Amino acid sequence: MTESGIKKVGNDLVFSGVQPTGNLHLGNYLGAIKNWVDFQNSKKCIFCIVDLHAITASENRSKLDDFSREVAAAYIASGIEPKKSTIFVQSNITGHSELAWILGCHTPIGWLNRMTQFKDKAGKNKEKAPLGLYSYPVLMAADILLYKSNFVPVGDDQKQHLELCRDIAQSFNRFYNTDFFPIPEPIITGSATRVMSLKDGKKKMSKSDPSDQSRINLTDSEDQIRKKVQKAKTDSMPFPESKNDLENRPEIENLINIYSAIGEHSSEKIMQDYKGKDFKNFKEDLCDLLISKISKISMEIKKLLSDQSYLNSILSDGAKEANELSEKNMNEIKKIIKFYT
Ligand code: TYM
Repeated sequence: MTESGIKKVGNDLVFSGVQPTGNLHLGNYLGAIKNWVDFQNSKKCIFCIVDLHAITASENRSKLDDFSREVAAAYIASGIEPKKSTIFVQSNITGHSELAWILGCHTPIGWLNRMTQFKDKAGKNKEKAPLGLYSYPVLMAADILLYKSNFVPVGDDQKQHLELCRDIAQSFNRFYNTDFFPIPEPIITGSATRVMSLKDGKKKMSKSDPSDQSRINLTDSEDQIRKKVQKAKTDSMPFPESKNDLENRPEIENLINIYSAIGEHSSEKIMQDYKGKDFKNFKEDLCDLLISKISKISMEIKKLLSDQSYLNSILSDGAKEANELSEKNMNEIKKIIKFYT
């Protein structure tokens, strides 16, 4: 602990977040949360539950409190330790929306027009899309910059938003001739930075896919995991022996990447181990691996959710810690802008 009570290990700050929209899945775990755990021993870490982002889509505007606790439980069950890391809910800290407004004044509309996630989510009828969905990446930049974060571990789908965050930080620094905001580095690591749907290897595994068979949820039972993996799409060609054999076989590549990330083996080794064997053998072993990791997490999530007062106390302590840092930085930002105080 520092004098101010803020947990601090080392000099660098790691920030990341997940939306409380229910159905946390293997992509969230392998692409993001799993990679956060190791940072805790060397860096100050802040892990946010980004409910202000969740309300940008109307279908996410219910059960926010339950889903927020579920994300907190998933963080802890995956190895995030509340004694080492700060875990809190975004809407508890007013600095996020306040800074988003300020940063929005440093973000040309042309930059936002390039965001592919907005185009995908808004679909054909852009005129009806909420302003919040359009300015979502500015709020995301505010989340990161509010704490002057240096490292942001995320899945591959967040890359463009992180690039925009860097541009916004530079735009602010340039305008006020300051180096106040660090230029945060995206950390996109591991062999499963983009986990794909089990039904269609060209589509990202996602909470919003109407088919539950397309994803492995962190709360799935052993039986559900086994059935989903057994039914996962493959093809009739032999098991690949090298990266070249993976061309145009996105479903196979995805299953190998999942195996690689969860089992911590290289994909080359996996291909050597299974060459000449049936996909059935591979899938059985993949099931065992997933069950051994995910079922543990799933059981722990359930246990944590049965103790709401414990989760509430973690989130309340986390909000206090986050608020302290947020207030300190917001005061400095206001001084830089020369707001009347
Ligand atoms: P969200 O809630 O969609 O996803 C949370 C994290 O999970 C990763 N992820 C995946 N990784 C690999 N394969 C997949 N199929 C997959 N699906 C999701 C995401 O990349 C993400 O890291 N905008 C963010 C939340 C956010 C945020 C932030 C993140 C808001 N502010 C500031 C970092 C820093 C989002 O929608 O994540």
